[in-house]
Amino acid sequence: MQVVIVDSPAEVGRVAAAKITQVIRRRNDAVLGLATGSSPLAIYAELARQVRQDGLDCSAVRAFALDEYVGLPAGHPESYRSVIQREVVAPLALTPAFVHVPDGTASDVAAACADYEQRIAEIGPVDIQILGIGANGHIGFNEPTSSFASRTRIKTLAPTTRADNARFFDSPDEVPTHCLTQGLGTILDAKRLVLVAQGEKKADAVAKMVEGPVSSMCPGSALQLHADATIVIDQAAASRLALIDYYRYTYDNLPEWQRFYTDGAY
Ligand code: GLP
Repeated sequence: MQVVIVDSPAEVGRVAAAKITQVIRRRNDAVLGLATGSSPLAIYAELARQVRQDGLDCSAVRAFALDEYVGLPAGHPESYRSVIQREVVAPLALTPAFVHVPDGTASDVAAACADYEQRIAEIGPVDIQILGIGANGHIGFNEPTSSFASRTRIKTLAPTTRADNARFFDSPDEVPTHCLTQGLGTILDAKRLVLVAQGEKKADAVAKMVEGPVSSMCPGSALQLHADATIVIDQAAASRLALIDYYRYTYDNLPEWQRFYTDGAY
């Protein structure tokens, strides 16, 4: 894991966006993995700025969302399909038909999940997957004790996750109890992972993810099993890392060429 500690939440977005831009500039039809939540918003804002000002062209980019609530009516402003349309598709000028979100309104949930895996298999692999992390260590909506081999499926949201996400809804009771989420196995199939976290509230989860045992009690610790995972965090989110000085030292002493992807895969 590469751990990059930066000074501000906005800088988290800029550094992570630079990694994504590099992939898109090398391959204009790159397959992007999209996360929702507040953490990646700074990434999308920076990518949108590059689309507006630097001529970044995302019109051929294909994208897969990590997860979706179950049972919200189509068009609900807090469905992840709506959020992704608002925060990503429109500002980055993605082609809507190239953007895939699990179908949380499907009557046959198992078939919807299998179909989503099939589409990822056909169009993917995902070139670069954006991730946030929940305060309880979840990635996507893979709550603690999710299998590291899991694929897209229905999950019950942890009460703490529902409480965390209540801020997006008019009342806490409106937060759905279930979701569809890519599994940890699905996420680990992406070629590259970039996880962002900001703020003290994430410091425990970040420490467990990076330095704790690989354990389903902290689903984010699955990233320790991935050969190309980068964690971009601010000082507050980094504050409980035991080896914080080592990560700073390592990054400060990286040759410039090593800060980005150099394997020619794109
Ligand atoms: C959400 C999403 C995750 C996200 C996490 C943290 O509910 N399903 O993909 O990473 O929980 O959210 P936030 O970034 O808002 O703290």
